[in-house]
Amino acid sequence: MSSPDFGSDFAWGAASSPYQIEGGGTGGRGESVWDEFCRQPGRVFGGHNAATTCEHLSRYKEDVAIYREAGWNAYRLGISWPRVMPGGTGAVNAEGLDFYDRLVDELLAAGIRPWVTLFHWDYPLALYQRGGWLNRDSASWMADYAAVVVSRLSDRVRHWFTMNEPQCFIGLGHFRGVHAPGDKLGLRQVLRAAHNTLRAHGETVRAIRANSDGPGIVGWAPSGVVAMPASDSAEDIAAAETACFDMSAGNPLGRNEPNPLWVNSWWSDPVYLGRYPEDGWLRFGDAVPEIEQGDMETISQPVDFYGAIIYTGSIVRAGADGAPEVVPLTPGFPASSLGWPILPESLYWGPEFLFRRYKSPIVIGENGLAWNDWVALDGSIPDAMRSDFLRRYLSALARWKSGGGDVRGYFHWAAMDNFEWHEGYKDRFGLVHVDFVTGQRTLKSSALVFRDIIREGGRSLFPAPPR
Ligand code: FCB
Repeated sequence: MSSPDFGSDFAWGAASSPYQIEGGGTGGRGESVWDEFCRQPGRVFGGHNAATTCEHLSRYKEDVAIYREAGWNAYRLGISWPRVMPGGTGAVNAEGLDFYDRLVDELLAAGIRPWVTLFHWDYPLALYQRGGWLNRDSASWMADYAAVVVSRLSDRVRHWFTMNEPQCFIGLGHFRGVHAPGDKLGLRQVLRAAHNTLRAHGETVRAIRANSDGPGIVGWAPSGVVAMPASDSAEDIAAAETACFDMSAGNPLGRNEPNPLWVNSWWSDPVYLGRYPEDGWLRFGDAVPEIEQGDMETISQPVDFYGAIIYTGSIVRAGADGAPEVVPLTPGFPASSLGWPILPESLYWGPEFLFRRYKSPIVIGENGLAWNDWVALDGSIPDAMRSDFLRRYLSALARWKSGGGDVRGYFHWAAMDNFEWHEGYKDRFGLVHVDFVTGQRTLKSSALVFRDIIREGGRSLFPAPPR
């Protein structure tokens, strides 16, 4: 009996976002909240900014060539909203749209399917100045922009993510203030902004369906807490599952503000189940958003997949009365250079719990390791830790798949080293190493390991078939 694999349709690739890699002159792009944020002293590590970053704008052909060499059959790229619409609405920057048109052609010619994210945090500054996500019109602003992109690219692009991690651009950007635009709004306003992003997601799904040249495959890319059980006991598994979705103050993964915003149900129940979770609604009391007629229907437009973003998680066990309790990690527990614990099982339990609740096929939208890689004397980049990370995490995903899990793709973060938001350039996530002085690109050792995995369809990662 041959061992199972991920299947010939599986999307194998890596991801990027426009602001983090494009750089290299404006090309008619409008300003985003991140341009403004980077100018403010003390906001970004070392005063770094993304003005140059990977210069993908001018080097995209070279980049696609190296992606091809890396063996990916898919690539998750983002479109910069202010590059397409400098003012956020209205006039289109033809040069910007042409860039993505050429990029899509280049990818397809290299045998790489583009999976396009319409919004990955570089919010048009002009719209922020008109109230941004607090303005109810923000939903139609996004849908109008999406319609322009979809009309242009959908003869070649089939796969769409509406937006990337609203938990971050709202939670980190508008609540904690550590990401652009750097606001620290009160809970009531935060929840209103969050509600508008959900409406924007729904209106964008409609815009994709209405303007797509062929049948679009549509999802989004949320992040959220992942809890994994401390043991295989039914009690620990139930406690971990509860911790992923429970909005009550009893959930240790959502106890303090703004943590409840990272509990999956606040965002994903509206999208997949058409309603906000009742325990969250009770908990937020007066701060809950005003819901107008038709909002929940807009938000819960049917989508085709759940683009889970998973890097790490928490280990949870059943405490008194079965309530979830976090198991502290042992001293020296493995962690990335950003301090994120290495927990490969998150790629088993994350998909499992999300699928149980939302019944939507899973695509891993991002997963990866921050590390301080450097070029060795022989010119190679021997990032053994990332290779090991890949094997461990993908093995957990393979185990989920072999138990019947419906997973359609895996996008490693990141395609290449890039501008890591408020962390600047101090940590590296890429499969491709970028020298930020010379611009030189080099495949890291992990990219070669990943290529081998892709070539064999991940077969070697699968547990022995059941006898
Ligand atoms: C995700 C973001 C991505 C990158 C990785 C490390 O939250 O979507 O842009 O910053 O984390």
